[in-house]
Amino acid sequence: MTFILAHRGSAGTHPENTMEAFYEAERVGADGIELDVQLTKDGEVVVIHDESVDRTTNGKGFVKDYTLKEIKKLEANYKFKKKFLKKNRIPSLVEVFQWLKGNELICNIELKNSIMDYEGLEEKVIDLIEKYEFEDRVIISSFNHYSLVACYRIKPTIEIAPLYSSSLYMPWIYAQSIRAKGIHPNIKVARDEIIVEAMRNGMAVRPYTINNEKQMKRLFTIGCTAFVTDYPEKAIRVRNDIKKS
Ligand code: G3P
Ligand code: CA
Repeated sequence: MTFILAHRGSAGTHPENTMEAFYEAERVGADGIELDVQLTKDGEVVVIHDESVDRTTNGKGFVKDYTLKEIKKLEANYKFKKKFLKKNRIPSLVEVFQWLKGNELICNIELKNSIMDYEGLEEKVIDLIEKYEFEDRVIISSFNHYSLVACYRIKPTIEIAPLYSSSLYMPWIYAQSIRAKGIHPNIKVARDEIIVEAMRNGMAVRPYTINNEKQMKRLFTIGCTAFVTDYPEKAIRVRNDIKKS
């Protein structure tokens, strides 16, 4: 069965990377969530996509210049302001993990350290994974493949998966070379034969970001390991329809 991972929570319907978006993913029956992490000025792991808070909150400036206490004061409703009267906040990874203790969802943590060099991010994330004993439920991905190798060196039992968006030649060979057990390609470079061959070579393949039904059907039909979508409810409906037919 192809797993459905809710991108930044259910980002198509709820403010991305907020607890409300993660609750929605669980409510609709997603198999897991994907989220992005960065470090605050006081070294706390927080869940936000951009290096700056400008796009998704009512604040301005870089995440790295806010303490956790300061960043928690921002409203993270983003484009959903009118619909979500309750103020949404930027969650810490600890808050997300506390909630994950009460369910069995998979958690794909993307380290957002391609632009900012967040010193110690890998150690902090892995310490939390160990503390919560989530080693078997977590996948660490990143466009920063050096960071993934650093994760592997710290804790080889946690799955790492490179994100990429160009046409790598035999990506499973590259992934094996950095000890990854999965690959997370942009759907634009994930042709069927690449997905199938990568899986045949033991790789988990989880393309991003699949929002249209035609592409969802295609991935369900070839039995792709998982995919990342902004619309988990829609993906579940498509998967159920295929099961019934
Ligand atoms: O997991 C894949 C996807 O989240 C990577 O792109 O920019 O949405 O973080 P982005
Ligand atoms: Ca991401």
